[in-house]
Amino acid sequence: MATPCLFVLFDLSIERLQVWPLREQASAAIAAADSAEALESVRVAYLGRSGQLKDLMGRIKEVPPAEKKDAGQRLNAVKTELEGAWEAKKAGLGQAAPSGPRPDPTLPGRTQPLGTVHPVTQAMENFAGIFEKLGFTVRHGPEIEDVFHNFDALNMPDDHPVRDQADTFVLEDNAILRSQTSTVQVRVMEEHVKRYGGGPGMPPIRIVSPGRVYRPDSVDATHHYGFTQIEGLAVAPGITMADLRGFLALFARETFGADTVTRFRPSFFPFTEPSAELDISCVFCRGKGCRVCKQSGWVELGGCGMVHPNVFDIVGIDSELYTGFAFGFGIERTAMFMLGVDDIRRFSENDLRFLKQF
Ligand code: DAH
Repeated sequence: MATPCLFVLFDLSIERLQVWPLREQASAAIAAADSAEALESVRVAYLGRSGQLKDLMGRIKEVPPAEKKDAGQRLNAVKTELEGAWEAKKAGLGQAAPSGPRPDPTLPGRTQPLGTVHPVTQAMENFAGIFEKLGFTVRHGPEIEDVFHNFDALNMPDDHPVRDQADTFVLEDNAILRSQTSTVQVRVMEEHVKRYGGGPGMPPIRIVSPGRVYRPDSVDATHHYGFTQIEGLAVAPGITMADLRGFLALFARETFGADTVTRFRPSFFPFTEPSAELDISCVFCRGKGCRVCKQSGWVELGGCGMVHPNVFDIVGIDSELYTGFAFGFGIERTAMFMLGVDDIRRFSENDLRFLKQF
C-alpha cells in the first residue's frame, strides 16, 4: 500500500505545497503584531530570506512540470499580498494608537457654544450702521497716537491742562494712547487735503470713527481707563449749526425711536466753536423722569459743535471756503442706559453670566 509519505517524496502536488495555509497564518500574524518588534519578527519568519515563503518557492521544483507555472503564480500573488499587508500594518503602527474608550459614532454631536458679539461692539456696529445709512463712511485711526494728532491739531496748545502727562497714558516721548477719537478727524482731513488740496473744489467729507480711547481715570461704576467712542465729522461749503442739529435729531430718532426728542446745551471743546452737549429724551420714561435718567427726563449722549477754524488751518483746509460739524459720543454710556447696565466695569470683566444676556 503506497503511503502518502512516499507519494509526497516523489510528487509534490500543488495542494500539498501548502500555499494557502501559509497565507492564512502569515496574514493572521501580521494582523496580530502589536509593536514594531513583533511585526519585524513576522517579516523574518514569513517574508525574510530564510522565511517560510522563500522556503516554499524553493520547493516549486518538486511540483510536477504541468503544475509548476500555476504554483509559481500562486506563490507570487501571495507574496505580493503579504508584503502589501505588512507595509500597511507598519504604517498603521507608526501612528499613535488612540487611547481611552473608543468614540461612539452613534451619539449625537456635542454643540460648541458660539458666543455672541460683545454688547459694546453691538452698540458700536448699530451706531456705525445708522451713520452709514445717513451717508457717512466708517474710518479707523491708531490707538497709539502722537501728541500732534491728539492735542496740537485739535487746538489744544501746549499749556492746555489735559496735556499734562498725568492726564494721558504716555508710552514714549511722542507716543501716547489716544484720549479721544477726535484724532481721526485730523488724520482723515490731512489725507483728504493731500489728495484733493484744501482749496476750491475739495470734495466733502463725511466720516464716522468708532474705537477705543484711554484716560487715566479712577475706575468706578461710570468711569474706566479704557472705553469706546464714536466720532463724526462732516466738512463741506456752507454747513451750519442747523445741519448739525437736524442731523443729530435724525440720528437720535433712527437709533432710539421716532418720538425721541433732542436738545443742545451750550458747552466748550477746544476744537469746535460753538460747542454743545447733545441730550436725548430718556428712552425709558419718554422724558417724564425715572431712575435711569435720574428723574431729569434727559440723557446725555456726547459733545458736538462746528469745527474750529484753527483746526482747518492746521490741516490745510481753507476755513474761508469750508465749514463743518463734528461730534463724539461715548458708546458704553449709551449701551449702559439702553441695556439697563448699572456698572461700566461689567463690560470688561469677561463674566459669561453677564455677556450671555446679550
Ligand atoms: N472728543 C470729545 C471728548 O472726548 C468729544 C467730542 C466733543 C468730540 C465735541 C467732537 C466734538 O467731535 O465736536 O470728550
